[in-house]
Amino acid sequence: MGHSAADWDYRAAIEITKDWNGVEQVLLQNQQGASARVSLHGGQVTSWRNKHGEELLFTSSKAIFKPPKAMRGGIPICFPQFGNCGSLEQHGFARNKVWAIDDNPQLHPPNDSHGKSFIDLLLKPSEDDLKCWPHSFEFRLRVSLATSGYLTMTSRVRNVNGKPFSFSFAYHTYFLVSDISEVRIEGLETLDYLDNLCERKRFTEQGDAITFESEVSRLYLSSPNVIAVLDHEKKRTYVIRKEGLPDVFVWNPWEKKSKSMVDFGDEEYKHMLCVDGAAIEKPITLKPGEEWTGRLQLSVVPSSFCSEHLDL
Ligand code: BG6
Repeated sequence: MGHSAADWDYRAAIEITKDWNGVEQVLLQNQQGASARVSLHGGQVTSWRNKHGEELLFTSSKAIFKPPKAMRGGIPICFPQFGNCGSLEQHGFARNKVWAIDDNPQLHPPNDSHGKSFIDLLLKPSEDDLKCWPHSFEFRLRVSLATSGYLTMTSRVRNVNGKPFSFSFAYHTYFLVSDISEVRIEGLETLDYLDNLCERKRFTEQGDAITFESEVSRLYLSSPNVIAVLDHEKKRTYVIRKEGLPDVFVWNPWEKKSKSMVDFGDEEYKHMLCVDGAAIEKPITLKPGEEWTGRLQLSVVPSSFCSEHLDL
């Protein structure tokens, strides 16, 4: 704190350390005191704090921080599939791999770094990955924290040779909420959704806003690019802005499913909500040499600031 934007050294605002498994993790900080932490295990954001040091993402008290499984919380990246079908592991392998720091800056958009602390990560398929998903790709992920405290994740997947391939994708974002029964999502009303709890049947959302009183596992289709998650008790609104991500997956396991997950506390469903910017219904197809970009920007504002300012 106390730095002016002019004398703030963005390079110094990045700290790379090792976690207790020896996996590197990156701490991004801004001059206001906000921060984000990214693990090279999965390229997963494991923490995002506002300028008061308050955590904004949920992490389970029973989370297991041990490769090869993704830890329960933060923002796991689901690629090249979402869910569980075919021979790939649930939600794809990207979240279970150790990514590399990408020091090839010319491969990143030049205008995207101004005024931000950021890290560039890279995932390429291993021999084992190619056995179960035989496609040559390069996945570049930039995670950046702006002066405003906004957290932006930009994913770029390139088909580096061979044949066309298709994939689906999600930023499986675990928001921390004070009480799920006091939370609502705005921006998804009137949309069609596929309900995972009803054999993926298609329904049309009837409510004025989405609220929670039982398990929810839904894929909202063709959604607007701005969605708000309002935490009434905290008087805090998460604003999700997305590009290249037409779908929104919404998940809360509620009571029964919570008890069946070893890395999740029985009562923790009350304090989390997954709202994922995603491309799932219509998989992305890349021809050789083509690249896809999916960007998610998260910010948090006082709830009084809401709807009319957000162009929902
Ligand atoms: C959701 C699925 O997308 O992800 C749930 O609908 C699943 O069934 C949840 O439990 C978390 O997945 P995982 O693999 O991290 O436990």
